[in-house]
Amino acid sequence: MPEKSLRLALQRYIPQSLDKRQTNAAPAFFFCQPVYCPSPLFFKAYMSTLSTRHFLNTSSRLGLGLVLGLMLGACGKTEAPVAASVTAPVESRVYVVGTDAAYAPFESQNASGEIVGFDIDVVKAVAAKAGIQVRFVNTPWEGIFNALNQGDRDLLVSAVTITTERRESMDFSAPYFDARQLIAIRGATEISKFTDLKTLKVGVQNGTTGDEAISKLQGKTSTNIKRFESTPLALKELEAGGVDAVVADNGVVVHYVNNNAGAKFRTVADNSFAAEQYGIAVKKGNTELLAKLNQGLAGIKADGSYAKIYTSYFGAETVAPAAAASAAASAAK
Ligand code: ARG
Repeated sequence: MPEKSLRLALQRYIPQSLDKRQTNAAPAFFFCQPVYCPSPLFFKAYMSTLSTRHFLNTSSRLGLGLVLGLMLGACGKTEAPVAASVTAPVESRVYVVGTDAAYAPFESQNASGEIVGFDIDVVKAVAAKAGIQVRFVNTPWEGIFNALNQGDRDLLVSAVTITTERRESMDFSAPYFDARQLIAIRGATEISKFTDLKTLKVGVQNGTTGDEAISKLQGKTSTNIKRFESTPLALKELEAGGVDAVVADNGVVVHYVNNNAGAKFRTVADNSFAAEQYGIAVKKGNTELLAKLNQGLAGIKADGSYAKIYTSYFGAETVAPAAAASAAASAAK
């Protein structure tokens, strides 16, 4: 691949995380200031206490240098939440966030193994607004709801669609993203609507809303449904010819098609797919954390930082135009 197109492809694949790193360097520094970086005045005062007490012998100077070095080192490395402003004092507890990071552009791992994506930026911004700290842990989709239920994860951000059934076993924040299923096929396949998939081999990510949709059309036990651990695996199988179509969330399908021109996929939209909305999930009954998340979410929607994150990933266009307005009213399907 020529260098320029490789660079372009890379820019598209890891869209914002890299520039964000730079633009957030200053807020990140100030954010860690109260925790790790004493002001020069504080230092002057500290030094004078030491000298008046004749404390400043060689070893204590060494010790001081060490402490200083650690403080500066800590400041350089601290990953501050991505938010324009922090409105609450930061709680010391760190909430563990589960995410199935094989779902670009919502959550994926970049070349250095860091978890990045739209969902990640949203939760970082929400956390900063709500004054809480979060740590992201890659968690396979298959066990993700169990991990929440058992307390191994405090919250989930994983493009999780709010459904009536899931509401029975977990609680959801206010919706933060509108989505809809989309069909991916190899370019030459003649399909124009969802019901055309009735007798075809269809790949889905196991246990997703795409799985639900095709299970409804073909019957849950249909041998034509091929269930995969991740959506990219299903799409790879489509490319290899093992399935005739893949049904998955529109944002992920569009991202994959745009970044894998070689696969020569085509997408087919169908308005009979239900409007879906993503929510941040917490363990059923964890109203305290839920309130914080909702407060943070409302805050970043009100101050424009949500819109900034949205456009940085999806531009001005709405990913699920038909879903946007109507779905906002009802969180559950
Ligand atoms: N929105 C779909 C669902 O909730 C798929 C989500 C899959 N997310 C992921 N990170 N793999 O069922």
